[in-house]
Amino acid sequence: MQLTTYAEAPAARRLQFGAFELLPQQSILLEAGTPVRLGSRAFSILTLLVERAGEVVTHQEIRDHVWSGVFVDDVNLRVHIACLRKKLGEGQGGERYILNIPGQGYSFVAPVEDTSAAPLPGPVEPRAMAGLPVLLTRLVGRAADRAAAARLIAQHRLVTLVGPGGIGKTSLALAAAWQQVEAEPQDACFVDLAPLTDAALVPAALAAALGRRIPSEAPIPALVGLLRQRGPRRLLIVLDNCEHLIDACAVLAEAVLRAAPGIRIIATSREPLLAEGEWVHRLGGLALPEEADGLPAQTLLGCPAVQLFVERAVASLDSFTPDAEALRAIAAICRHLDGIPLAIELAASRVGMLSVQALAEQVRDRLGLLARGRRTALPRQQTLEASLDWSYRPLPEAERRVLRRLAIFPGGFTLAAAMAVVPGEAAERHGLVEQITRMAAKSLIAVDTAGEAVHYRLLRTTRSYAAERLREAGETAALARRHAAYLEMPVPDVAPAAEGAPWRDGLHRSRDDIRAALERAAPRRAMHGQAAA
Ligand SMILES: Nc1ncnc2c1ncn2[C@@H]1O[C@H](COP(=O)(O)OP(=O)(O)OP(=O)(O)O)[C@@H](O)[C@H]1O
Ligand SMILES: [Mg+2]
Repeated sequence: MQLTTYAEAPAARRLQFGAFELLPQQSILLEAGTPVRLGSRAFSILTLLVERAGEVVTHQEIRDHVWSGVFVDDVNLRVHIACLRKKLGEGQGGERYILNIPGQGYSFVAPVEDTSAAPLPGPVEPRAMAGLPVLLTRLVGRAADRAAAARLIAQHRLVTLVGPGGIGKTSLALAAAWQQVEAEPQDACFVDLAPLTDAALVPAALAAALGRRIPSEAPIPALVGLLRQRGPRRLLIVLDNCEHLIDACAVLAEAVLRAAPGIRIIATSREPLLAEGEWVHRLGGLALPEEADGLPAQTLLGCPAVQLFVERAVASLDSFTPDAEALRAIAAICRHLDGIPLAIELAASRVGMLSVQALAEQVRDRLGLLARGRRTALPRQQTLEASLDWSYRPLPEAERRVLRRLAIFPGGFTLAAAMAVVPGEAAERHGLVEQITRMAAKSLIAVDTAGEAVHYRLLRTTRSYAAERLREAGETAALARRHAAYLEMPVPDVAPAAEGAPWRDGLHRSRDDIRAALERAAPRRAMHGQAAA
């Protein structure tokens, strides 16, 4: 693997702001010396804003610079700005970087220093070279969990991060995997098992993540053969969302680890795999003070749960600057939410509508009530479900309809796919983009701007919740038909020479869609078959 160091580019420009350093020519953003992964468009926007710090850069100027005249709507730009803010961790300790100037554009407001002449820190591997997705947002807190995960991965070959929905398993697994790959360059791959319902397909999913195909008969021996061909080369596999296919994952993990000594696995699951050689690290909520009363603002801001709330609140409300009293109310909210990151994100998106004090009261009253209604689930699961309820119920009906219908996509989706599948009538298509963007701002939809096209996704927990609402509304069958009809669109002609081209990513994503549609159709086909027999 060819590593580029920025020491190789002596004339490189370097611009520093806060804990960040931007190297425009090398497309590198460093946070305290560590590369932050940004998509190319987000990087261009940031560079433009930083280079013109203090000025208002208009929407049109950004569009011309980043999209070179291709038409993009403001929504697309807003999505990129929101993602940038999350990466920069705006709001932490009061930092503000990108200010929205309504009706005009954006302005980079933090002091920027040109450090081009300063001595260079050590070499840095600048580009994602592993088959790992980028982290969508900066990881807040979790220092002890990161250290524990790193220690376990260094010593053992199978480490499972276990915890309830929305607690941050995927986020930590990715951060830990990137840390490994950056410390020691090696192959890595990410297998998202959430869209899969058939346990027999788990080996094929791993093979696909490695860019290979295996036959459906005896898939495990085929996979083992494939892994043995790699010889002693190191490989780090992230198996994400194992819980619903737990036995198949355990069998797979054992076979894979036996196949070759250089392979290691980080799995995420709501329960341990109980596989041979497995080491489990349990994730709890983000750290919180026991009692916030009387604590100074700085101490409260040092708590990861409070930090996450503030960061997300700033992402949705530019002017959010909590004082000590508000920070105490935020600490109370986080405590009611058991420090569950997803629940905190959902609550923080409400600061534009309610004061944090009112929010704290609502969270206490409503969540208590909602959670008491469900006696079967585990406490943290109850909290999260109640949080989702509390975020979903007050949405306008049109948004609720869109969110539950988006659950028909097993994994990520593009705007075009949503446009084709979600609306019942042509009239509903109008406003869909705005609705999706508004729900992204409320943390109900995750946005990935790392690739060429913007991709959206419901987090696993949110998707299960939305799928349940879709079922309640009696719309599942109709949506499944629309989804299947959408997939009958022609797949682009695939030339072998195009390996690595952007369409490949698109095809990879639609494989989950096709599989889900076939699985949904299978029971119906079986029924028709029986009727015909
Ligand atoms: N330490 C953290 N800092 C910032 N954001 C976080 C952190 N942990 C989790 N999040 C955010 O909380 C949400 C849920 O996290 P994540 O998807 O990692 O949870 P999970 O445990 O994998 O959930 P699921 O069980 O649904 O798969 C995401 O939006 C993620 O970005
Ligand atoms: Mg997850």
